[in-house]
Amino acid sequence: MTRLLEVKGLTKRFGGVVAVNDLNFHVDDGEILGLMGPNGAGKTTAFNLIMGDYKPDAGQISFKGQDLGPLQTYERVKLGIARTYQIPRPYHDLPVIEDLRISTVPDSITRCLRGKKRNIEEVEQIGIGVGLKDRLMKYPHELSLGDLRRVELAKSIATDPKLIMLDEIFAGLTVHEINELTELLMEKKKAGLVFIVVSHDLKALAAVIDRAVVIQFGHLIAEGTYEEIAHDKKVKKAYFGM
Ligand SMILES: Nc1ncnc2c1ncn2[C@@H]1O[C@H](COP(=O)(O)OP(=O)(O)O)[C@@H](O)[C@H]1O
Ligand SMILES: [Mg+2]
Repeated sequence: MTRLLEVKGLTKRFGGVVAVNDLNFHVDDGEILGLMGPNGAGKTTAFNLIMGDYKPDAGQISFKGQDLGPLQTYERVKLGIARTYQIPRPYHDLPVIEDLRISTVPDSITRCLRGKKRNIEEVEQIGIGVGLKDRLMKYPHELSLGDLRRVELAKSIATDPKLIMLDEIFAGLTVHEINELTELLMEKKKAGLVFIVVSHDLKALAAVIDRAVVIQFGHLIAEGTYEEIAHDKKVKKAYFGM
């Protein structure tokens, strides 16, 4: 399997808090990786570091063999990395289709330079591709949380990524919505996308991930299949204190 993303010795401090502490993990092409850990474990901070929103205090991140260290966020996006946000960020006064169109703007500038521009039909297709066909003209307040998460996913897909990092995309959803979203991710995986799925909830990821890494206090405590980590002593202690 081809190594897509590699994180080595990654460390980020906020004052006295070590949010990410000498963290090592990787994602291969063709995989869905679960990045798990209790609240405050450092999952979102890890995404922010990979995206270039924060500068690490130590460590390296490479993507497709290239060191991301010197690259700005937009350059990382151009290389094929995208993310969703833990709290959906819709434009409140715009229908879904316009929100999606705006999300493609930075990309459409680079496409213009390459002589290609994403048109409204392409944007529509991205919305349809995440199951929002009959909701494209709806406003955020008219959507369920599950649909808002689909909008987030569509916005990340709009930048033509290879790797998408999903931050707590299952949180607060009904079992039915979780199952639907799981199916959608499986479909996108078949189409060649790679995912890192962050969740503080272990069970929500059981059906979707190929492999998991579990972190606590910013440090890796377990790695393996879902079954392996679900039975891991350190993981049980981190989650249930036993
Ligand atoms: N911008 C920030 N400033 C200060 N502390 C932060 C910041 N972001 C995260 N932290 C702290 O870093 C730790 C990890 O947070 P976070 O990455 O959000 O955890 P998770 O996503 O796993 O719940 C927490 O103790 C949190 O309070
Ligand atoms: Mg978080």
